[in-house]
Amino acid sequence: MIRVGVIGTGVMGAYHAHLLNDTIAGAALAGTFDIDVGRAAEVAGQAPGARAFADPQELITADDVDAVLIASLDPTHEEFVLACLGAGKPVLCEKPLAPTVEGCQRILDAEAALGHRLINVGFMRRHDPGYVAVKTALHSGEVGRPLIVHNVHRNPTNRPGIPSTMLISGTAVHEIDILRWLLTDEVTAVTVHRPRSAPAAGDTIDPMLLVLEMTSGVLADIEVFTNASYGYEVRCEVVGETGILTLDPRDAVTTRVAGTMQQAIPGDWRPRFAEAYRIELQEWVHALETRQPSRGATAADGLMAARVVEAGIAALATGARTEVSA
Ligand SMILES: NC(=O)c1ccc[n+]([C@@H]2O[C@H](COP(=O)([O-])OP(=O)(O)OC[C@H]3O[C@@H](n4cnc5c(N)ncnc54)[C@H](O)[C@@H]3O)[C@@H](O)[C@H]2O)c1
Repeated sequence: MIRVGVIGTGVMGAYHAHLLNDTIAGAALAGTFDIDVGRAAEVAGQAPGARAFADPQELITADDVDAVLIASLDPTHEEFVLACLGAGKPVLCEKPLAPTVEGCQRILDAEAALGHRLINVGFMRRHDPGYVAVKTALHSGEVGRPLIVHNVHRNPTNRPGIPSTMLISGTAVHEIDILRWLLTDEVTAVTVHRPRSAPAAGDTIDPMLLVLEMTSGVLADIEVFTNASYGYEVRCEVVGETGILTLDPRDAVTTRVAGTMQQAIPGDWRPRFAEAYRIELQEWVHALETRQPSRGATAADGLMAARVVEAGIAALATGARTEVSA
């Protein structure tokens, strides 16, 4: 049994905590920490045997906490991941590993100094059955080599006043990681185009269109639109030399009734990627139980994503094509 402590019990932390308590075989929620002590206590209270800690370091070093899941706000990740490495505890850190390239590099160096892997990064799309099917088909060669990848990432609403850079660091970062993973390729340069913004976006540049150049010569575009009103939707289409691969949500049902054809659209990312979150956690716990290497994203993947995000943010500011730092 892997006893997991969860730091940060907001939307994602509470979701992971419930999965660990209810669904994941071989795992138990050992405890929680959040600066919102009421929320930490509420989430711990729903799992038998779990307790809310008064201090994050106490959770990380507790004898009855075998591994730590970090789901607090982005700027806190580096401090908590480094503390987990200091305590020799495996850690699954929600994306991003750290908000800056320098922060990711410090984490990578600290893990390298230990000489063994302790870090997984929560790029859960790598576990989504739909993306796995696209990758399997692509690597089978049935559509030839990839040429272009079109991506769409839409949310119904976003927090008013959110910085435009967050559309890259918090939203497009999922596509950035999945493109590297899908194509087994690296991003070399980013350009960001700004169409006129939706009225609901206020002062935020939303939508925006990123164009990513890959080492192989593949071009990828990412439409990010976080005030799209109608629902949460993620699309991916790989244009190959001899055919097209399209990502389909695995459990979508089309209803034909009363002269219409309908498909429900989720309100946010949790229903769409429920299976990906479950598999991500189950595989992490299984790898810890069996002491096998995990399939999930590594600290190096977190660093590479941060480099592309950094280039994207610079490209947004200048309007110029920006190369990704080596
Ligand atoms: N993988 C995904 O699909 C996905 C989706 C959404 C969010 N995320 C990531 O998950 C993390 C949490 O996002 P969220 O949507 O749950 O946010 P949220 O605002 O709902 O929750 C964040 C929680 O962190 C707590 N917190 C803040 N500072 C803290 C500190 N110093 N110590 C402990 N707790 C602290 C807050 O009180 C809050 O409860 C973020 O890093 C975000 O980027 C990932």
